[in-house]
Amino acid sequence: MDIEQLRTEVGTIQADARRVLADIPSVQALREVRSKFLGKKGALGRLMGTVRSYPPEQRSEVGQTLNQANKAVTALFEETARRIASSESVSEASKASAFDPTLPGVRPALGNVHPVTAVQWEIEHVFQRLGFTVEAGPEMETEYYNFEALNIPADHPARDMQDTFWLKNGWLLRTHTSPVQVRAMEKFGPPIRCIGPGRCFRYETTDASHENTFHQCEGLMIDRNISIANLIAVMKLLLREVFRREVKVRLRPGFFPFVEPGFELDMNCQICGGSGCATCKKSGWVEILPCGMVHPNVLRYGNIDPHEYTGFAFGLGLTRLAMMKYGIHDIRVMNQGDLRALVPPSRLTGPAIQAKQ
Ligand code: DAH
Repeated sequence: MDIEQLRTEVGTIQADARRVLADIPSVQALREVRSKFLGKKGALGRLMGTVRSYPPEQRSEVGQTLNQANKAVTALFEETARRIASSESVSEASKASAFDPTLPGVRPALGNVHPVTAVQWEIEHVFQRLGFTVEAGPEMETEYYNFEALNIPADHPARDMQDTFWLKNGWLLRTHTSPVQVRAMEKFGPPIRCIGPGRCFRYETTDASHENTFHQCEGLMIDRNISIANLIAVMKLLLREVFRREVKVRLRPGFFPFVEPGFELDMNCQICGGSGCATCKKSGWVEILPCGMVHPNVLRYGNIDPHEYTGFAFGLGLTRLAMMKYGIHDIRVMNQGDLRALVPPSRLTGPAIQAKQ
């Protein structure tokens, strides 16, 4: 073959190599093909062996042509090897990530519960076990239910104790859950055992211990021969169940127009254990449960004869109780929607809560 034919032959071999390598699938296949082009008996190898058959003056040109072709084809093989290696490692990785049964599963995010809701569920459960029903009153109330029927007439100074959000239509946002008492008396008549958890509103400046929106839970028990002893027993049971331990309580006289006698029930501080801290203002006690024996006037407003029936009522500060139970020091956290304040299901206690999940 003359030198021109040799050039054409070399061009064909390079083109062949490019075509074959373009769709070579694996390193293994590449190795098999390599000898066909670059091996001693391969296409270029065989031509290398023919250099001596050319006239001496042409040999260097033939050698150069063959060397260049050899370099170009070698480079092609190297490039192909790199391409296969990188695509193989990607496909290995994607195969691995497709499914690995030994990996731990991805835990789905469970919703958490607001501390007030958690405590409310617990209280509902405790009282339901005692035969109490759970009542809900409206958040928008009339003056009658919020004040008058609770023995707080228009000119009574007790109305000033509770700064009220008045609405344009003459109604108001309930300042406490006590209106539920009168509504329950009207709805059921005696005997009554009910609680009324819910949101209340006061026109107040907020700080670490005051909020304009908070939760209470009203309680009412009316029957023949209900006494202060019943009141104390139920209150102690409630706190014991919520805190999962015996809590110390003390009763002080307290004034509320709708009860007579009225009490402030204090509990030993669950944050410092009674030794004195900022939450209990160094006293070791926190006011948690205002309560008392239902005032005869309130019974009359509810169409119940005070000579035949007596009862006790209480107005539990649900928000305050939740703060105590979960060690939250600033009441404003409760309404800020800060997810860190929510109670994960694992920290909820009580069968009522398990059941509701
Ligand atoms: N409603 C009262 C308040 O918000 C709390 C209260 C006190 C409720 C004594 C009661 C009670 O049922 O007996 O300040």
